[in-house]
Parts: sequence; structure tokens; C-alpha cells
Amino acid sequence: METNHLNVVILAAGKGTRMHSNTPKVLHELAGKPILAHVIACAKALNPQKIIVVYGFGGEIVREAFAHAAITWVNQAEQHGTGHAVQQAAPHLDADANTLILLGDVPLVNVEVCKNLIAQATNQLAILSFNKADPTGYGRIIRTSTGNVVSIVEHKDATEVQRAINEVNTGIMAMPNQQLISWLSQLTNNNVQGEYYLTDIVALAVRQNIAVVAESSTDEWSVTGINSKSDLAQIERVYQTRIANKLLQQGVTLKDPARLDVRGSLVCGREVEIDVNCVFEGDVTLGDKVKIAANCVIKNAVIAAGTQILPFTHIDDTKIGENCRIGPYARLRPSTRLAAETHIGNFVELKNAQVDIGSKINHLSYVGDTVVGKNVNIGAGTITCNYDGANKFTTVIEDEVFIGSDTQLIAPVTIGKGATIAAGSTITRDAPADALTFCRAKEQKTIKGWKRPVKQKKD
Ligand code: UD1
Ligand code: CA
Repeated sequence: METNHLNVVILAAGKGTRMHSNTPKVLHELAGKPILAHVIACAKALNPQKIIVVYGFGGEIVREAFAHAAITWVNQAEQHGTGHAVQQAAPHLDADANTLILLGDVPLVNVEVCKNLIAQATNQLAILSFNKADPTGYGRIIRTSTGNVVSIVEHKDATEVQRAINEVNTGIMAMPNQQLISWLSQLTNNNVQGEYYLTDIVALAVRQNIAVVAESSTDEWSVTGINSKSDLAQIERVYQTRIANKLLQQGVTLKDPARLDVRGSLVCGREVEIDVNCVFEGDVTLGDKVKIAANCVIKNAVIAAGTQILPFTHIDDTKIGENCRIGPYARLRPSTRLAAETHIGNFVELKNAQVDIGSKINHLSYVGDTVVGKNVNIGAGTITCNYDGANKFTTVIEDEVFIGSDTQLIAPVTIGKGATIAAGSTITRDAPADALTFCRAKEQKTIKGWKRPVKQKKD
């Protein structure tokens, strides 16, 4: 039956024993997202009518991890093989559609390859194969002397002659649902493993004179499944290398492409430079000529053109304007907004702070729940005391204020435009504009002849 309707069935019920973890295998993270999320993203890109995920081990935890996705969940409480898994999905298959089978632990699955497979699946069974130097463990593609596919034989069931075949089943295949539903009802578990093999549908198709095509993938990683932490680490590197190469092709300077981690999306303008050991999480956008020095962790941030992020800076949910200088050792926490030409220096923590053009907070400060005006200078060791133990309050520092070092601003408090706060002050009330305000111990005392304590001798 000719149809453009597509169902995608993702098999994800396996336990993943070799991960040695209580977390279901498909929830382990690759590039900051569950392995299964990568497979679901590929499925979505194919625009199917339905995505069906067969889950089992780990049960509801897997479902809950994708609570907001439009997915039909099918529980395979006991895992009796890939055929048994697809049987559980059968009641949800659309009669007039084709189905693409994906594996929940093959995260680098390629969208274009899937499209090609689906295009071949009208009226026939299309299988993605791969030529593996060491095919141990995989199902082998059995062909006639003229090259026609006749069956898939699992490694454990294969003869020595069959085991010498290098063309293996990747597990990814596509077919019309009408046939699939009929084949599923005919599967048996008469094999070494006592499982219902999905791969037995190949022989069933051949028996019915339905053509079977097996196309070989040229990209091993896109068909590689994750079974162990070592596989996961390897695929993570492959993924990261691909991202790094894409960035290099776009003209981004990476001091070492092997020391970059992108766990989300990183969009870069022109002449961007990224030094070693930086981690980008969530959605990060870097404008033209942005420079990120070594050892920065940057999550959900927009950094405008010409800004420099110096080493060991941590940025989370922050927008930064043009030509700013941030760090080294700065920490920008959520809801921070920095206008152009601001300077945030070492050991400065900002949280929910808006800082306007040209202002500087250069050393050892905490500024939280604060609105800072233009051209303000906040001296070393300034603390906005925003929290009374129960509630948070706002500090407002207007344009051109100068805050002396080691000042505490007890919120709620407003420092008027052009005001100067003397060093060492604890400010509890609003400070007027254009005046000097200070609040220190009344007198400076000197005790003459005072001696520093000396270490007592032990007798
Ligand atoms: C399967 C294929 C084999 C192929 C190999 C590729 C069968 C019988 N064999 O091998 O030809 O070379 O994949 O990796 O299909 N799963 C379930 N429920 C189950 C069993 C498996 O959901 O009852 C899922 C697993 O979570 C996994 C996928 O199916 O995502 C493949 O299962 P796995 O056990 O890794 O593959 P094999 O059956 O060994
Ligand atoms: Ca003090």
C-alpha cells in the first residue's frame, strides 16, 4: 500500500546490565541529554504520525523523563526479545502507515539515512546493515549467491560459515505496517535464546515473495549501540569531535578541538575564539569576536559581540552586552543582565543583578537582587545583604555612584545618583544623591605601647 504515513517504534526496554548502574541505560546522558532523547530527536525530525517507545526496565522513570513529549508509551514488562517488544507496540500501529524501527541505545542515528530507508519501505522490507570487521554478537545478513537477502541469523544461532559473514544487522529497519502486523503474529521463539526475534520477519517476507533490501551504512558511529560506560564515553567523544569540527568549519577558533564540550547548542558569530576546557550547556550564543578563555562553564547565555570571558568563569542564565570583560573567577548566576562595557572581576558573584552600561564590579563582591545604573564603580568586598533569613530585598544603585571598599548595603536600600559611599560602611538607609555617606565606628583609637601577643612557651 502506497502511503506517506509514518510510525516510529523505538525499542528501549532493555536493562543495560553492562552499565552497572541503577539508572536505566537509555537515561544515561550523552552530551547533556539522555541517550534516548537523541533517538527521539531523530524520530521527530522525520515528522511521523506517531512515536512509540517500548520501555520496560526502569519503568516509569523513563516515561517521566520525557513527560512533555508527544510519545505513545508501551510497557514491555518482561523482555522476551526484539520481536516481543514490537508485538507490544502492534496495537498502536496505524494500519495504513509504514514503520521505522529504531533502537533506544543508538543515539547517533542519522536522519538522512532513516529517510532513505523509509523511502524504500513501501511494499518491501528495508534493513540497514553494516560491514563489521568483528561481527561477533550481531545478527548476520544471509544472502543468496546472487545477493538477495534471505534471512538474518543471530550470532548465537549461526553456523561457523554464517559467523564468517561480516555484513550485520544494525537493528534499524522499515516496513509497511500491514505486513509487519501479520509477521509479528507469526513469530516463534524456537531459537537458542528462547526469544522472539524481530529479525525473523526477514525470512517471513521472503517466504511471501516480498522483497527485502539491505543497505549498508557507511558511518559506523551512527549505527553503534551503547552497552557500557566505555561505549558511552567513546560515543561522547565522537559527538563532541563532530561538533568541534562543525565549529571549526564555520570559522570558530578552538585552541584544542579535543578539549571542548557542548551539551546543548552553541551558536557562534564570526572571529569567535574558545580556549581549552570550556563546557557549554543548554543554549549558548556567542556574538562576533567573543573570546572565551580557558576553563569556563557557560550555560544558557547570550554573550554579545566583543566581550571577553576570562579564565575560570561560571555563567548561568545570563545575558551579557557588547565589549564587556568578565572574570577571571567570576560567577554569574541566573537572571543576571549586563549591559555593554561592564567589567566584572575576580571572585565577584552576581545573582539576579542588572548592571547598566560601563559599570564596574572588579573584586571580591556579592551583588544580588540589585539594579545597578550606568558608570557605577563598586569597590572591593562590597556585599548587598539581600536576605534577612526569610525574605529577599532589592538594592538600587543609581547612575555614577561610587561605593567604597568593604561596604555592606542592607536591602531594601537605594543609593542616589552620583552618591559616594565611604569605604567600610554598613548602609541601612537610603543614601542621597551627589553626597558622601558613611557609617563607621565613631572614633579611630590608638593604643600606644600595645604589644602583639607572643606564643607562650611550654615548660
Ligand atoms: C539485535 C538484533 C541483531 C542486531 C543487533 C544490533 C534481534 C533478534 N537481534 O540484537 O540482529 O545485530 O540488535 O545491535 O533483533 N529490546 C527491547 N526488548 C527486548 C529486547 C531488546 O526493548 O525484549 C531493545 C533493547 O533495549 C535495545 C534493542 O532492543 O535497545 C536491541 O536489543 P539488544 O539486546 O541490544 O540486541 P540483540 O537482541 O542482541
Ligand atoms: Ca566592615
